[in-house]
Amino acid sequence: MCASVESVVSSMAGLRLRDWLYTACGDSRGCGKLLSPQVWKNCLMATRPEFLILGASGYVGRALARRLGVERIVATCHTNTFPDAIRFDGRTMSIHDLGADLSMVRYGIILFAEARVDRCAADPSGTSEVNLDATRRVIDQLIERGTTPVFFSTDLVFDGVVGRYREDSSPNPVVTYGNQKLAIERYLQSTGENFLIIRLAKALSEDLNYGGLLTEWSNSLRTGRRILCAEDQNCSFIDIQDVVTALIKLMKDDASGLFHLGGPDSLSRLELFEMFAGCLPQCEGAREQILRCGINDVPGLLERRPINISLDSTKLYETIDFVPKPMEAVCRQAAKLLASG
Ligand SMILES: NC(=O)c1ccc[n+]([C@@H]2O[C@H](COP(=O)([O-])OP(=O)(O)OC[C@H]3O[C@@H](n4cnc5c(N)ncnc54)[C@H](OP(=O)(O)O)[C@@H]3O)[C@@H](O)[C@H]2O)c1
Repeated sequence: MCASVESVVSSMAGLRLRDWLYTACGDSRGCGKLLSPQVWKNCLMATRPEFLILGASGYVGRALARRLGVERIVATCHTNTFPDAIRFDGRTMSIHDLGADLSMVRYGIILFAEARVDRCAADPSGTSEVNLDATRRVIDQLIERGTTPVFFSTDLVFDGVVGRYREDSSPNPVVTYGNQKLAIERYLQSTGENFLIIRLAKALSEDLNYGGLLTEWSNSLRTGRRILCAEDQNCSFIDIQDVVTALIKLMKDDASGLFHLGGPDSLSRLELFEMFAGCLPQCEGAREQILRCGINDVPGLLERRPINISLDSTKLYETIDFVPKPMEAVCRQAAKLLASG
């Protein structure tokens, strides 16, 4: 082993967070390039977790946890299970109750939430126990231990009147869920500490086994069920793997502050479905299953939805030199998987 590698290995389990993050992002500057597989393995085994993922069993958390890898994280779940995750209820527990080694944790990634918009509308006070009270407590606990909180907010902090919202656009939520998210953004901003707030657009996956909108549509196409598609609500849909890549790059770059995280296209669900159907061999048949509607005509909604919640994510793209996948490419890949059975 060369001297430089030896010194890397002997210093604090051999690998600093920044170096590892370079590797996770596919950046060749990482020391991973210098290490043989065995040394690399030893380093990983000896290092302590550097990320706390609260809500690793959810849609975003599962992808993030898989990318960071089990050795690097302390992960929590609540009602669902996730490999190696610790049961955590933010309403009754503190992060100190996890019984995990948090001594090297630099980022506390807050993904736990009641994220169903109508649940929040139906029970503002019950859901505020998770989305407000528990989240504030966790933020305080993270800050107290010198860990940077990373909070996932939403495009639903906007009223949807104009769209293409930037970080300096004025939020004006019209749904309870958006109000709860905005309250936490303001709480974090008032702490005067380092933080990351990610206002995330609707995430989906080109991997139909992962779940999400394209998976739901594929299942409906298989079973011949009608597909309700709103033609008037515009979102900046983003692939879940891009969400993970962007977050890891932000942490690697020690970025802080508020960032919008959406894809490059502003599309209605109908436009997205048309795009997906256009990639399928049985394109016309797929289109016949569509039931067009307005977002606020969807049966059972407890609160009216904002119309244009598209995000301008230029700040993030420029900060981390990042180009998310266009939805056309995501749809093409998903259609390929669907066609291959
Ligand atoms: N996915 C999106 O497109 C999207 C878009 C904008 C913003 N966001 C925000 O991003 C974050 C992650 O979203 P997501 O889609 O991954 O949400 P999700 O799939 O609903 O996952 C929520 C997570 O929170 C956990 N949880 C729920 N109640 C809890 C409690 N009382 N104590 C501790 N943990 C609890 C869940 O655990 P169990 O599953 O084990 O019960 C799960 O791990 C949320 O804050 C969401 O509002 C998501």
